[in-house]
This record gives sequence, C-alpha cells and structure tokens, in this order.
Amino acid sequence: MSHLDTLPAGLRQAQPLLWHNPTLRPAADALAACAYGRADIEAAIARWQRFAPLLARLFPDSVAADGRIDSPLLPQTDTCGQPLWVKADHALPITACIKARGGVYEVLCHAEELALAAGLLPPGSSYTVLAGAPARALFARHRILVGSTGNLGYSVGVMARALGLGVEVHMSHDAKEWKKQRLRALGAGVVEHQGDYALAVAAARDSAASDEHAYFIDDESSLLLFFGYAAAAWDLAPQLAAAGLRPTPEQPLRVYLPCGVGGAPGGVAFGLKCLFGDAVQCVLVEPVASPCFLLRLASGDDALSVYDIGLDNRTVADGLAVPRASATVAGIVGPLIDAVVTVSDASLLAELRHQWRQHGLRLEPSAAAGFVAHQLAAAQWPGAATPVVWTTGGNGLPDEVFLPLLAE
Ligand SMILES: Cc1ncc(COP(=O)(O)O)c(C=O)c1O
Repeated sequence: MSHLDTLPAGLRQAQPLLWHNPTLRPAADALAACAYGRADIEAAIARWQRFAPLLARLFPDSVAADGRIDSPLLPQTDTCGQPLWVKADHALPITACIKARGGVYEVLCHAEELALAAGLLPPGSSYTVLAGAPARALFARHRILVGSTGNLGYSVGVMARALGLGVEVHMSHDAKEWKKQRLRALGAGVVEHQGDYALAVAAARDSAASDEHAYFIDDESSLLLFFGYAAAAWDLAPQLAAAGLRPTPEQPLRVYLPCGVGGAPGGVAFGLKCLFGDAVQCVLVEPVASPCFLLRLASGDDALSVYDIGLDNRTVADGLAVPRASATVAGIVGPLIDAVVTVSDASLLAELRHQWRQHGLRLEPSAAAGFVAHQLAAAQWPGAATPVVWTTGGNGLPDEVFLPLLAE
C-alpha cells in the first residue's frame, strides 16, 4: 500500500473535511518520548520576562506597562447559541498576529546574544540597555533575513527595526501589497518573489548564507520560534481559570488553530498539551488548497507537498498558503494533534463578514478558520468539548484592505 492510500477521501478534491489523527497518543506518553518539554517552554517564558521592560519602552502605545505580549480570551456564542471562547491573537500588541509570539521572540533572542557577546549586558542589567545608543550602534552592523507569506516577515521586521537591526524579508507571491508597503515604511528591505512560500524561505536562507553579519530566521525549522509560540499556553491558563473553565479529559477544551507551515499552531499545541495533557484537544485548521500538515501526518512523508496530490496551494488565506509542512514541527507534535479540519475560501470570507458584523472582530481570512472548523466539528465529532477558537491575525488590516473583503 502506498502512503498516499492513507489520505482521507476528498482531500485531493479540495473538499472540506474533518480528519482524526490515527497517530495521536496519550499526551503523557507522547511527551515522555519527546526530546523537549516544559523546561524548554519555561526557559522561553523567563526570557520573555527579561525582555518585558524593553518591549514596554520600545512600544509604549501598543504594549502595556508590564511588557507582556498577550491577547484577551473573549466569550462568544456559536451559531447554535452554544458557548465558545475566542483567544484573540488578531489583536496581539505590536503586530496584531500570532506570528509575533515567535517572530518578535526570536529577534529578541538574537539581539540578546549579540549584546552578550559584545559585553553590553553585564549580569543584573536591565534589558532596556538594548534600546540605548551603544546597542543600536552594534545592531546597525547586523541584519536579519526571513522568508514569509507576510505576517512573520512583518513581526520580524517591526521588532528588528525597533532595535536598529537591518532586516530583509523575502515575500512569496501570496504576500499582500499592504504588508510589503508597511515593511518598507519601517526601513526593511522587501524582496518579492513570484514563487510560493517555500521558495521565499529558501531564497532568504541562501541570501543569509553568504553574509557573516546575517542571521536567518527559519520559519520551517526554528525551535526558538516554536518555543516562543508555545509560551502562549501559559498565557491562556490563568485566563481559563478566571473564566471558570477547568478542562478535564471528559470535558476537554477543543482548541482550533489555523495552520500554515505548522510552527505557530504546533508550538501552541505543544504548550497546551504540556500544561493540560488530554484535557485539551488540538485541532489544526488548513485551507482546502493547502492542507500540508494533514498531508504530512497522514502520509508520514516529510517530502510530500500539496502539489504532489494535485492541489494548487492558492487560497485567500495568505498566511496559510504553505505547500509543505515543517518536518521539525511535525516530528515533535505529530502524536499530539487530535485532528485536522480543512476549510474552503468561501467559508472563510463568510465567517470573516459574520465576525465583523455580529461581534466586531476585524479578522483576516486565515484568522476566521477556527470558527468554520468548529461548525464542521460540532456536526461531525460527538462528545462534550469546550471550543476555543484562536484568531490569529487581522486587527492591523487597513480599511482599504478590510472593507473590500466584506464586500466580496
Ligand atoms: C494569520 C495567520 N494565522 C496562522 C498562521 C499559521 O502559522 P504557521 O505558518 O506557523 O503554521 C499564519 C502564518 O503566517 C498567519 O499569518
């Protein structure tokens, strides 16, 4: 039997579907067999805390005085009137998208390394020195490269430019013009590619390889990005408690995470399973044209892309337009993902309009994916579960981009 015979019916035909992961394992078993764990996430949280005063200093209009980058947990009801919770990363400080949790974090980690090596961070010093003139002079001699469909590039670009680091963002053809303009306005270099996300990442990697002052942020395999995202679970935990939600394996949280290459949703899922074990179900959500993570989990083949099964990777959900899943992330979280749902572009746009009109949420198409997935899962997946929809981007959409989406 070929590994393609294990693909669910309808996947190649770009039909919306709910797929249960046959390689799911009890969280405790999967985590015990994993090379990474809570300690890695706790180290990332400690690092975030060190950076907090710097973030509050650099982004006083966007980041609260405590310097934390987090979003609220909002109550909502679904179309059947049942309770549903929204983890509102579309309104995350600084860049209004989930990729900030990884992208901002990895830029800060790199800045910390440069400053430590240059003797600019003696033990006990406040990280606000990274905003001072000596640090800026150091950072001006270095640059960061990244490949992106838009939001990672923006998150990296904003943070890098705020520190005075040079930055070059390689954008896939999916990247929206306004995201490129916003980056250029910050002084970032934007390299436009006619190819897809995988090509943009490869081009950034190549460009960085020939420059000893360049640092490449690898969306396909960076563990710093991964643990930056994973720390989000620790942000959610007290919000759940404050809302009176105590998930159990009998009444689990069912968390819907929009998925591109898999880093952001995989990282968050890893953090959630570390904290809540089997009291949380992690559901990745992908466009019907770009189900790369489902393909990877169902086939076990790191090399397969959605093109290999006849799909075109064209979707209105630009942040999720990725042909091949991260092998690194799939290798870590494969046994921790409960299910994957695929959704159509039309349903994303309809949901985007609904969320704006009924609830006042300004979402980009990718970020509406969790709501659509919940509707499908509520109909096809029996069992008590409390839905949490992770909205991953959109609050920064300018009117001239957002209003036409409402009209489409
Ligand atoms: C809005 C939005 N949601 C979700 C994702 C998915 O993140 P990842 O590509 O790490 O899976 C992205 C990626 O860019 C995004 O822009």
